[in-house]
Parts: sequence; C-alpha cells; structure tokens
Amino acid sequence: RSQPVEAQDAKLEAAKRVKIGIYFATWWALNVVFNIYNKKVLNAYPYPWLTSTLSLACGSLMMLISWATRIAEAPKTDFEFWKTLFPVAVAHTIGHVAATVSMSKVAVSFTHIIKSGEPAFSVLVSRFLLGETFPAGVYLSLVPIIGGCALAAVTELNFNMTGFMGAMISNLAFVFRNIFSKRGMKGKSVSGMNYYACLSMLSLLILTPFAIAVEGPQMWAAGWQKAISEIGPHFIWWVAAQSVFYHLYNQVSYMSLDQISPLTFSIGNTMKRISVIVSSIIIFHTPVRPVNALGAAIAILGTFLYSQAKP
Ligand code: 3PG
Repeated sequence: RSQPVEAQDAKLEAAKRVKIGIYFATWWALNVVFNIYNKKVLNAYPYPWLTSTLSLACGSLMMLISWATRIAEAPKTDFEFWKTLFPVAVAHTIGHVAATVSMSKVAVSFTHIIKSGEPAFSVLVSRFLLGETFPAGVYLSLVPIIGGCALAAVTELNFNMTGFMGAMISNLAFVFRNIFSKRGMKGKSVSGMNYYACLSMLSLLILTPFAIAVEGPQMWAAGWQKAISEIGPHFIWWVAAQSVFYHLYNQVSYMSLDQISPLTFSIGNTMKRISVIVSSIIIFHTPVRPVNALGAAIAILGTFLYSQAKP
C-alpha cells in the first residue's frame, strides 16, 4: 500500500536533515584537523603565502585527477562561468591568505574568535553597500558580536596587529565571497563540489604570482631546510595534511552551501569555530584568561541572536 503523501514528505524531510547533519559534522571534523596541521606547519615554517598556495594547488590537483579518472564528472563550463567566478576567486584568495597570515602571527583560537564576528561584516556590507535593511533585532545582535570580539581582542595575551588585521580582512573578503558564490551557483548546473574545484583553480592562478613576490623561492628553500632539520623528514606529511584537509573541508562546506541558505551556512560556520577554538586551546596549550574566554562566548552568543533575528 502506498503511504499518505504527508508521511512520504516527512520521510524525505527527515532524510534531508540527516544528510545536512552528516555534511556539517564532516565539515567541522575536517576543519579541526586542517587548523591543527596548518598551525603546526606555520610554527615550524612561517611562510603563510606559500602554505596557502600549496593548499589551493593540492585541491586543484585532487580535482583534476578525479575528473580525469571519472571519479567525479567534470563540469561543463563556458567563458561566462569563469567571468562570474573571477570576483568570487579574488575574494576567496584574499580571505584565505589573510586568515593564514593571521594564524602565522597569533593563536588559532584568537583568529577564529575574530572570525566569529563575520555576521557583523555581512550585515554592514549588505546595509551600506547593497542597501538592504534588516529588522532591529539584527542590528542589536551586532552589539554582543562586536563587543565580544573587541573584549577578546583587548584581553588577548599574545595580541599582534598583523594577526588581528588578517582575521578582519578575511571576514570582509569572505562576506563578499559568500554573496557572489550563492549568486553564481544559483540556476547553474555546476554542483557545489565542482564549483569549489573551479574556484580553487582560479584562486591558485591569482595567488601564485603574489606568493612569489611576497616570499619567494629563496626564503622558502632556506626555511624548508630549517624545518626539516628541526622536525625531521615527516614534516612533509604535516604540509600534505594541511593541504589535503583544507580542500576537503571547503569542498564539503560548498556541498552543503548548495543545499542550504547562506544564513544556515553562517550558523554552521560559527558552530564550527567553537570546535576549532576549544580543540586548538587544548592541543596548543594556549593561555586564556577568563575575561578573554568571556569575550569569545559573548561574540558567539551574539551570532546565535543574529541567526534568530535575521528574517
Ligand atoms: C583559510 O585559510 O582560508 C581560513 O582558515 C578559512 O577560514 P574559514 O573557512 O574557517 O572561514
């Protein structure tokens, strides 16, 4: 006997929720591993422009191999697609390199506390650049977000201006990336996974000349010798892990962005930061003062209020 339509709908809805739940859990777990290896690499080898380039290169290579071996079907793209992707790739490149520079200067937890303020940037950009207006609750939720981040920043034991500004620039760049990506993915036949693959490739092309200009092969080679002599030959596996996990967590996050609204995405992203902040404080024995932790908690609470207030 066929089930009533409502029962079938409820089943489909439940299955969709389970799928999104699995995506989110995988995204957070992969991101925690990325953050740990990324910081271990940066501690021994402080060249964030190169490590950001390597993570994009690794992702691009993994996807080219997947397309060539037909593990994944290659997307059909035209010039128009790459043209619309270009601003997304510029924003992705800036956001990625700025976050990595930040993490090379300050504790991982500090970068992510500042990055939990991303919804505030989203509101400000939408309000002042796109002319969107929001309910009063949204503006009010910015008070704990901005206040909490500010409290965490001024009480941070190892404050560093480059580290702070890197995380702020990354927030701004990623707001633009998310606005442009959702627009670019709408009505297109390219899946979330392939969209992110094309984004990595274009970002790699944009970033490579800048990485060579800012750091360059001479610095990289000298630093590499030092890192290998201090850590041992297995240092290369740390670099491989940070690159592979960077691609995987972003790929899964784009696979979920395909299915959910940008708002649900940003809530998922903030919850991800809680797991990164807690795990990195434990693993790297990061010193935190109670007032510093309070600032982080207020900022994260503000993000939840924001998600409740946003229409
Ligand atoms: C990066 O290197 O791109 C950042 O770590 C990304 O940060 P997010 O994906 O956690 O916003």
